[in-house]
Amino acid sequence: ITQEQDDKKASEFVQTDLKNMHQDINNMFTTSKPDLRKICEYYFDGSGKSIRPLIICSMARALNVHCMLNSNPHQKIQLDCILMDSQRKIALIAEMIHVASLIHDDIVDASDLRRGKPSVSLKWGPHKATLAGDFVLAVSSKALARLGSTRVVETLSTVLEDLVKGELMQFGTKENDSERFEHYSVKTYRKTASLIANSCKAVAILLVEKNGPQCVEKNDEELVQMAYECGKNIGIAFQLIDDVLDFTSHSDKLGKPGAGADLRLGLATAPVLFASAKYPELNGMIMRRFANEGDVLKAFNLVLKSDGIKETRCVATSSNNANAAQPAAAGEARRFPHDAPERDFVNFPPLRVPENA
Ligand code: FPP
Ligand code: MG
Ligand code: MG
Repeated sequence: ITQEQDDKKASEFVQTDLKNMHQDINNMFTTSKPDLRKICEYYFDGSGKSIRPLIICSMARALNVHCMLNSNPHQKIQLDCILMDSQRKIALIAEMIHVASLIHDDIVDASDLRRGKPSVSLKWGPHKATLAGDFVLAVSSKALARLGSTRVVETLSTVLEDLVKGELMQFGTKENDSERFEHYSVKTYRKTASLIANSCKAVAILLVEKNGPQCVEKNDEELVQMAYECGKNIGIAFQLIDDVLDFTSHSDKLGKPGAGADLRLGLATAPVLFASAKYPELNGMIMRRFANEGDVLKAFNLVLKSDGIKETRCVATSSNNANAAQPAAAGEARRFPHDAPERDFVNFPPLRVPENA
């Protein structure tokens, strides 16, 4: 069996895992209020990419195969190794948390377009949108509690905390250049990577809890931590590319506002932060959140003229992306991934996420 056939087979299994995902989610919305049901079902119609469930099911299957081989190293690899129902539920719950956060996000950002159609807040107004987002979240919490693992409940509750903290961090700016990178890294982790990282962690916990201690050759906790780290890196890379797309893609391709939408919201993402090294006039604009007339267009063009997009892509694709966005030590020029030797990034300290920030 070739690697290519292997990959195809693995992705086919995940496609099967997700085939009835939207139907299963919509069946959870038991309410006699037809309007509320309609809003909740609005985004679970196949219009999204379902990236999170895809990553989570792939991770769960990989962990399950790993665990199976560990119990009997001589058995033939069975790619159809079963996905636990509770692990599949994590994928559904993660998608529900994500959609709830998007419904709320479009209220915060006053955004009219989502997944290629009018946003919930445009179609039904911000009041109903707020309540519908809450309802999706409430139903997902019930499903989570039913899995019967306190540790998994705690793990995914941390994601909710992170989403709110990350969203709040966006309203702040840092004067100092190094602090700005740190702020951006932590915000990116909280807003995007935490959900993917902790969902990957949750499917690992469920596997370990089912199979009992020592289900893998190393420490079980190490497996849980590796699943988390892998999800974290994918999540950060995902957000970095999303931030690039805001400069390189248009709304009709993205299905949501593009072409400078972040700048219009006052947000300085990685491409701008990298560009400010070459064009220091961006610093003033970042501090006033691109509020002066002409700031958005000027900043947009400076980013395109700089290497900011290339550098952001480079961080996203580097093997240790979570750490590569860290600033250099005080007094040193920042080294970007493409002009620094690989070992510098391998040895970078892990992304620092303060416990109680
Ligand atoms: C999209 O970011 C927004 C998020 C990933 C998180 C939003 C979180 C909240 C509104 C806090 C409330 C959380 C819950 C769980 C209800 P974006 O605006 O940068 O991206 P976009 O281009 O997709 O709009
Ligand atoms: Mg937002
Ligand atoms: Mg938004």
